[in-house]
Amino acid sequence: MTTTDRVRWGILGTARINDSILDGARGSARAEIVAVASRDAGHAAAYAAQHGISIAHGSYEALLADPSIEAVYISLPNSLHHPWTMAALRAGKHVLCEKPYSRRPADVEEAFDLAEARGLVLAEAFMWRQTPLVSRLVAELPSVGTLQLVRASFSFHLRDEGDIRVRADLDGGSLMDVGCYTVSAARLLAGEEPAEVLGASEVDAAGVDRRFAGILRFPGGVIAQIASGLTTDHRGIDAIGMEGSFRLPDPWHGRPSAIVRGDGQTVELDRSDPYALEIDDLSGAIRDGRAPLLGRADALGQSRTIAALYEAAATGRAVRP
Ligand SMILES: NC(=O)c1ccc[n+]([C@@H]2O[C@H](COP(=O)([O-])OP(=O)(O)OC[C@H]3O[C@@H](n4cnc5c(N)ncnc54)[C@H](OP(=O)(O)O)[C@@H]3O)[C@@H](O)[C@H]2O)c1
Repeated sequence: MTTTDRVRWGILGTARINDSILDGARGSARAEIVAVASRDAGHAAAYAAQHGISIAHGSYEALLADPSIEAVYISLPNSLHHPWTMAALRAGKHVLCEKPYSRRPADVEEAFDLAEARGLVLAEAFMWRQTPLVSRLVAELPSVGTLQLVRASFSFHLRDEGDIRVRADLDGGSLMDVGCYTVSAARLLAGEEPAEVLGASEVDAAGVDRRFAGILRFPGGVIAQIASGLTTDHRGIDAIGMEGSFRLPDPWHGRPSAIVRGDGQTVELDRSDPYALEIDDLSGAIRDGRAPLLGRADALGQSRTIAALYEAAATGRAVRP
């Protein structure tokens, strides 16, 4: 493979998460990150120099107008995912957009309609789904017999009150930020979309959920409990079946981990780089004309479930996604 075969990526914004995707792309035979844009031209130039990126643009519009860029990674605050994805697609760029794509299912439909009409690749960046750990998790499922319950949690202590995650106008909140992973896990393990959800949240004065707990009832009989928070520090997935159970204590970042079976036996899992796998997957999809791992159906399932959970928590009623 020659250098020119690598997909030329640009990044919108100078988010902290970019470090992970830049690291992931560094050893990639399929992707190279060649441009970055910031709302501030001086900041874009400094960021590009610091990160070894060759092109700096002083606005997102300028990067989208750059004909040398084929694909865009969008790691902007949540409320900006959809508008900038639409702008990127209109400019003819493939898009990898950070999770959660949007809490409004109509946004997801609109974006995938446009991507499909233009023949462009679009994916929500649920990098945890790319890891070998997930294949191992799914392969382990039959060992518990008929799956009955899933418990999934993801929380961390947010110390910075200026963070985008506690801004209602930027679609912050614990369910959006980390609870979306627990929704992803519940849907993956149940193997279908929930028929009904319940929700309870602790909402601050600004209207941001600092903690969220939900129940997802699936048509096939699985019930999932999900929990997320910005005020606690907890991670894990439990799969509980009629014949046994197992637990993954640290499933979300591809760190060295283990599946702990109900009888105490463990299956060790190696470290993997979910961001490298993700950008390789997207770049491969762009070059080879195949679908990426996660597409329209998954993004729509995520968005519908998150929207229903918020409605359930706000109304105190069960909601059908
Ligand atoms: N997949 C993962 O592992 C993972 C991990 C962390 C975060 N994320 C997701 O990635 C996204 C970014 O999170 P982050 O914590 O990395 O973000 P962050 O560090 O706060 O950066 C967000 C960037 O967006 C740009 N921006 C544009 N309008 C903005 C506004 N009104 N307020 C603040 N920033 C604005 C800024 O870039 P310029 O000023 O340069 O334009 C800023 O650097 C979120 O959607 C989050 O859910 C994913």
